[in-house]
Formats: sequence, C-alpha cells, structure tokens
Amino acid sequence: MVKPDGVQRALVGEVISRFEKRGLKLIAVKIYRIPTDIAERFYGEHKGKHFYDSLIRYITSGPVVCMVWEGEEAVSVVRAMMGKTNPAEAAAGTIRGDFALHPGRNVIHGSDSEASAKREINLLFNDYELIDYKRIDAEWLVE
Ligand SMILES: Nc1ncnc2c1ncn2[C@@H]1O[C@H](COP(=O)(O)OP(=O)(O)OP(=O)(O)O)[C@@H](O)[C@H]1O
Ligand SMILES: [Mg+2]
Repeated sequence: MVKPDGVQRALVGEVISRFEKRGLKLIAVKIYRIPTDIAERFYGEHKGKHFYDSLIRYITSGPVVCMVWEGEEAVSVVRAMMGKTNPAEAAAGTIRGDFALHPGRNVIHGSDSEASAKREINLLFNDYELIDYKRIDAEWLVE
C-alpha cells in the first residue's frame, strides 16, 4: 500500500514501476480513503503502542493506493524492496531508503507474512477485484 504521504508526493508510479520491473504481477489496485474503523482493524496489532494514535491519523489522513502483488516469495521480496520501518536506517536503493526520512511518514506498507497478507487483502478488497491473468513475459521471469 502506498500510504497517504506517498500518494501526495506523487510516488505511486515509482512504487508500481519498481515492483513491476522486479517481475511481480499486479493482480489488484485501487485508490482508497481508509475509514477509521478499517484502519483500526488493519493496524490492530499495534493498539496500545505509543505511536498507535498517530499511525491511525496518518493512514486515514488522505487516500492510499492498495495493491495486491503476486509472485514467488512475494512477501519477503516486497519487504526487502521497502526497506526498514525507520527510513533513517533503510538501505539506499530501497523505497524507504530512497524516498523517506521518518517512521511516521514512511511512504509504503507491505504485509509481513502470507497470513497477514490474506487478512489485509480481505479487509481492503472484494474477491471480484482480484484479477487472474498471465504476464506475457512469465517464461522469462521464472525458470
Ligand atoms: N517508532 C515509531 N514512530 C512512529 N511511527 C511508527 C513507529 N514504529 C512504527 N511506526 C509506524 O507504524 C507502522 C507499522 O509499524 P510496523 O512495526 O508494522 O512496521 P512495518 O511492518 O515496517 O510497516 P507497515 O506495517 O506499515 O508495513 C510503520 O510503518 C510506521 O508508519
Ligand atoms: Mg507491519
């Protein structure tokens, strides 16, 4: 998910382009203004932490772009491309390492496991929004 700062800073295309070029397949995408109740469920694991209230304000502060990317080891590949949660510690060449400075404005969210990906997809998408197709370069991406 490109977070509200990423949308306002016109980084949506850059983020999509990086994942596309890596070889991941985009099977769902939409711009969405997350309602507070969905945000609270989305980030439920962080309830009670010192940054929770500001995190809910941040993620509901403007539209986000939600995406579902498919591919081998997609979760770990995406997490590596995002970089560390605190952008000050994120490696150059990662999205956060190239475009962010502060954990409260770190441009992108990515699911941290297959189980959380399933949970988050269910929270943000309807089944009919997930599109099954084959990339024309599929044979050139996976042996
Ligand atoms: N110390 C902090 N100060 C401010 N915001 C924070 C802090 N720690 C985490 N956050 C915010 O909460 C989000 C969720 O924290 P989490 O530990 O799940 O990091 P993440 O998995 O790298 O990020 P995300 O879940 O958004 O993909 C972070 O992306 C960041 O926006
Ligand atoms: Mg997380």
